[in-house]
Amino acid sequence: MKKTRNITVLGAGSWGIAIANLLNKNSHDVSMWEFDLEVCSRLQQNRELPAKLPGIKIEESIIIENDLTKATKSAEFVFCAVPAQYLRSALANSLLLKSGARPVFVNLAKGIEVGSLKRMSEVIGERVPAGIRSGICTLSGPSHAEEVARDIPTAVTVASNNIEIAEKVQNLFLTPNFRVYATNDLVGVELAGSLKNVIALAAGMLDGLNLGDNTRGALITRGLAEIVRLGIKLGADPMTFSGLAGIGDLVTTCLSKHSRNRHVGDLIGCGQKLAEILKGMSMVAEGVETTRSARELALKNDVEMPITFEVYKVLFENKPPQTAIGDLMGRDQKHEKWD
Ligand SMILES: NC(=O)c1ccc[n+]([C@@H]2O[C@H](COP(=O)([O-])OP(=O)(O)OC[C@H]3O[C@@H](n4cnc5c(N)ncnc54)[C@H](O)[C@@H]3O)[C@@H](O)[C@H]2O)c1
Repeated sequence: MKKTRNITVLGAGSWGIAIANLLNKNSHDVSMWEFDLEVCSRLQQNRELPAKLPGIKIEESIIIENDLTKATKSAEFVFCAVPAQYLRSALANSLLLKSGARPVFVNLAKGIEVGSLKRMSEVIGERVPAGIRSGICTLSGPSHAEEVARDIPTAVTVASNNIEIAEKVQNLFLTPNFRVYATNDLVGVELAGSLKNVIALAAGMLDGLNLGDNTRGALITRGLAEIVRLGIKLGADPMTFSGLAGIGDLVTTCLSKHSRNRHVGDLIGCGQKLAEILKGMSMVAEGVETTRSARELALKNDVEMPITFEVYKVLFENKPPQTAIGDLMGRDQKHEKWD
């Protein structure tokens, strides 16, 4: 028989709400933590977030909290749906860390921390007791909140260095329309989920410039090649990039109307400036900051990532995207290989 678990979701944005509803419908006791007091009160009153998930109600039995200690008090599983660049500070004051509790942490964010260049499981690892570090998980794959919240069939991957813990997380989701695979390639799954957002920004730029399917196909394929290159250097299993967290998420994000990263790229392709685009957005586009981290990681590890470098120049050095494409097309002739 299915066991009911105590689960806390940190971050009541679109992904946090979609995952909280999913777990709640699957009979778990779910609490959600929202750091912004005003947003939290509105969520408690209205039980919806129309700007991000129109038409979706937060299930009545989900507790919504602004107090992190209360929200995590009896958690057996803590899902982190806070954007990558804020996860460290969100976990900084967690009294849970002093209480002797030993929950499983599951990262849901897709990004690499600027400055430290750490993956999210590494960031969480620096904030939780040593005894639970080896069981930290990341759940990733093609999974737009807008679709998961409407119960559209979705398949994702959960990764942990400890495969038995990954299987425990897998078991939380015995739902007809959300299928979870397990793997022990934490490095590969986290890199794949983070770096695809950089390529999605580029895919949006192509759309904004009204280029064609050939160009998009070339971008996705060569984008994957450079993700794999960095992944291998950092210890990932190259086959992970052929899976749901790899090509699955990359293709979905590069083609999707829901992707914020693709959308930001699209507006840049249409001639808008990054600063004005971000000013008008209420939701996080992780690829923007992760482009900085990805470029740094490539430089540090001596890995060729030409698309990532061009996206960086377009975003942060005002290079026109059309010129960036010309420079990519005009690179030295190469053999098509993956290392
Ligand atoms: N939306 C999706 O479809 C989806 C799917 C898979 C993964 N993700 C990943 O999940 C993460 C969250 O995405 P989202 O779509 O829910 O974002 P969102 O912008 O909808 O919500 C972000 C949440 O984080 C909170 N937050 C912001 N700054 C914070 C801070 N300093 N401290 C604590 N909390 C803070 C916000 O209040 C909000 O609750 C991202 O890394 C994203 O890539 C999103």
